[in-house]
Formats: sequence, structure tokens, C-alpha cells
Amino acid sequence: MDTLKAIETRRSVRQFDPHAKIDSATERALIEAARMAPSAYNLQHCSFVVVRDRAILEKIEKAAGGQKQVCQASLYVVVCANTQAWKDNLQISAAGLPEPAKQAKAMLVRAVFENNERACRDEAVRSGALAAQTLMLAATAMGYATNAMTGFDHHEVAKAINMPPTHVIAMAVAIGKPLVTPAPRGEQIPYEKAVLQDHF
Ligand SMILES: Cc1cc2nc3c(=O)[nH]c(=O)nc-3n(C[C@H](O)[C@H](O)[C@H](O)COP(=O)(O)O)c2cc1C
Repeated sequence: MDTLKAIETRRSVRQFDPHAKIDSATERALIEAARMAPSAYNLQHCSFVVVRDRAILEKIEKAAGGQKQVCQASLYVVVCANTQAWKDNLQISAAGLPEPAKQAKAMLVRAVFENNERACRDEAVRSGALAAQTLMLAATAMGYATNAMTGFDHHEVAKAINMPPTHVIAMAVAIGKPLVTPAPRGEQIPYEKAVLQDHF
């Protein structure tokens, strides 16, 4: 499936065949695709927590107000992002750069992120969201349905997956074989309202 077709056909599905399985090679290919998403300063903030343990899935489902797609999905991935990636991943993000460029990058990210909690969080969430969307488009291209999810108690989900306090949940993605065909898309905000020329 080409990219535009995947973008057009991706819809949120909330009922999955609970018996459908995704094999480990497909799972790997999906997550490798998500790992190709861009990240701010190439800091590669994301950890992809693939939740298989039924007890943990049930905790997440409960934290999500009983949304059944959590346990029904063939693959449930919590996309977490490291707010401290500017320190933790600096070296790998600068790998391959000549030494002066490495040092310049280190100075730049320090200037941007040190003592700036908001920048740390915003860039982590933004990069995590792009990874989640890339995961959904890859899954769509492979014939699966998906549902992006943030409608849960983040504190409870973080606890269930033992997420370190340095991280935030950007989004979770449920992936599986759909049991339903989504209704046609709802009305979109008119193009002219959504797209501005030069300024507000
Ligand atoms: C950040 C984010 C969080 C979402 N959280 C949930 C959720 O918790 N449960 C749910 O059923 N759908 C969730 N959705 C799906 C949206 O409801 C859906 O994308 C929107 O209604 C548009 O429909 P479409 O995805 O079929 O185009 C979420 C979507 C996004 C982008």
C-alpha cells in the first residue's frame, strides 16, 4: 500500500478479533518502522513498551475506563518518551558527527533543555506522537487496524508498566484485525478554516 493510501484509509477501530495474532517478525517490522520516525535533535526519545502480560493489559484497560480494545488488540504498544533524552541519548544522536559538530550539538541541546522542563516534555511528547503515527501508518499498510489512545489515567498506566519518572506516555497504540468497518469519516473542519495564508 502506498503512503497516501495508508493515510487515507487509516481509521480508528475499537473492536478487534481477540484471537488474531501478530507474529514476531511482523511485530519487529512494525516497531522498526516506528523507530524511523523523526525526533527532535535526533534524540530518539522513544521506548516502545509492548504489553503482552494479561494482568498488565487488564490494569491498562481499567485505567482506560474499560475500553475493550486494550485487551482485544493483537499488539498493544505504549509509546513512552524520555524527557531526559537530551542527556541520556546525546552521544548516540551525535554519533558519526565530526568532533567539533558533536561539541556544538552538546552545547546546543544543553542550552535548549537544561532547566527547561517544558521543552523537555514538549519535544519528548512530539517525537513520541510522530513515532506512534508512524507505527499506525505502517500497521495500516500491512493490513491491520489501529487505535491511538491517551484516554486513560496516565499515572495508573505508568505504574502498570513500571515507567521511570523521567519518561512520559506519548500515546498507546492498539493494533489488530478489525471486527468492524469504521463508519465514514465525520465532518472535517472546512479546509479554508483549517488552512491559513501567511498568518492568523
Ligand atoms: C492523541 C489521541 C488520543 C486518542 N485516544 C483515544 C482513546 O483513548 N480511545 C479511543 O477510542 N480513541 C482515541 N483516539 C482516537 C480518536 O478518537 C480518533 O482519531 C478521531 O475520532 C478521528 O477518527 P479516525 O482516527 O477514525 O480518523 C485518540 C486519538 C488521538 C490522536
